[in-house]
Amino acid sequence: LNDGLAVTPLLGWNSWNSFHDDVNETLIKETADLLVSTGLAGVGFDYLIIDDGWASRKRAVSGPIQHNTTRFPSGIATLADYVHGKGLKLGMYTDSGSMTCAKYSGSLGFEKEDAAQLAEWEIDLLKHDNCFSVPEKERSVQARYEDMRDALNATGRPIVFSVCEWGVSSPWLYGREVGHMWRTGKDISIAIEASWDGVMQNLDDTTGLSRFAGPGGWNDADMLAVGKPVGNRLSHTEQRAHFALWALIKSPLIIGADLRALSRETLLLLKSREVVAINQDPLGVAGDRVWKQGPKEVWAAPLKGGARAVILFNRHVASDDNFPATEMTVYWSNIGLPNDAQATVRDLFKERDLGVFTGSFSSVVDNHGVIVLRIATTRPTVGLEAWRP
Ligand code: DGJ
Repeated sequence: LNDGLAVTPLLGWNSWNSFHDDVNETLIKETADLLVSTGLAGVGFDYLIIDDGWASRKRAVSGPIQHNTTRFPSGIATLADYVHGKGLKLGMYTDSGSMTCAKYSGSLGFEKEDAAQLAEWEIDLLKHDNCFSVPEKERSVQARYEDMRDALNATGRPIVFSVCEWGVSSPWLYGREVGHMWRTGKDISIAIEASWDGVMQNLDDTTGLSRFAGPGGWNDADMLAVGKPVGNRLSHTEQRAHFALWALIKSPLIIGADLRALSRETLLLLKSREVVAINQDPLGVAGDRVWKQGPKEVWAAPLKGGARAVILFNRHVASDDNFPATEMTVYWSNIGLPNDAQATVRDLFKERDLGVFTGSFSSVVDNHGVIVLRIATTRPTVGLEAWRP
């Protein structure tokens, strides 16, 4: 949507990956505290999103959606105050069908009442899901999402609209007219079990869609499976690759981990400022895969001012865990830079310049690992910003 919201992808936290529908006031307040005290809010992670489970099971015959008073005894308005008091924004979750996926009240037919209630509570984002919906011939998915978009718009409160309708259509085809972000694939982690194959599936689902993204509307490859202590089968190397690739394709970066149990290593990964800066680059052009040969992949995005963000990704399909690291090369011709240009190459995880190179850059990349680079010509060259992957 072109309304001045989500001009860069969202950064935040969502309850689903670690807690499913087991959400409550204490958890949300503790998470708000931790977003600030860990320094994550300082890096930009400022949307705190309560996913499924906050609403009552059944709705009243008339009137707006109600919260679960056992789980949120102080009410949502008070919680929103608390979250805003920390300098954060509050996101919530509804469903475009008769029930949410976890079988709490849905908003079908109550869009206006629910949007008005959510605005009165002063929420800042709404994730709208697509479970228990009506048959397409009665009302299309797009039309049901437009109902909620219009209802939110009518409240006059700026509310980011996160469209979660994977599995039924190709939401990127009309996503920009309906919301600020749209899910491109399934849940990255089912039953708190993140796997490398699952992460790669979500990446594949989003590959080639970069042209649909831009300021006000982003491909959402789902929440990050970074740092979930229980059941996360991703190695740290794999989590780094996942994080960097999500940053480059300009997916919203939404932490799914329990912040009360973050390791130092994970926190440092999430606070990789120069990698997050790719995601938040003001040019707002999403990256994509620009080269592939077997397991070797090069991903790239243009940045404001004409530099390139580049990821060398060694995606070896690991049946053999001992597969060695491999040398990879990015050629300037892969990333729309003149072949003879001299360019400064910087490692964005290490936050260190690697030197000046002409025509190409090579490095050894671990199995399932990435090297994340910023490549900037030493002399400005006209027209480089216009390049798209
Ligand atoms: C399906 C969505 O894809 C998930 O992200 C989560 O919101 C659940 N529904 C909640 O039931």
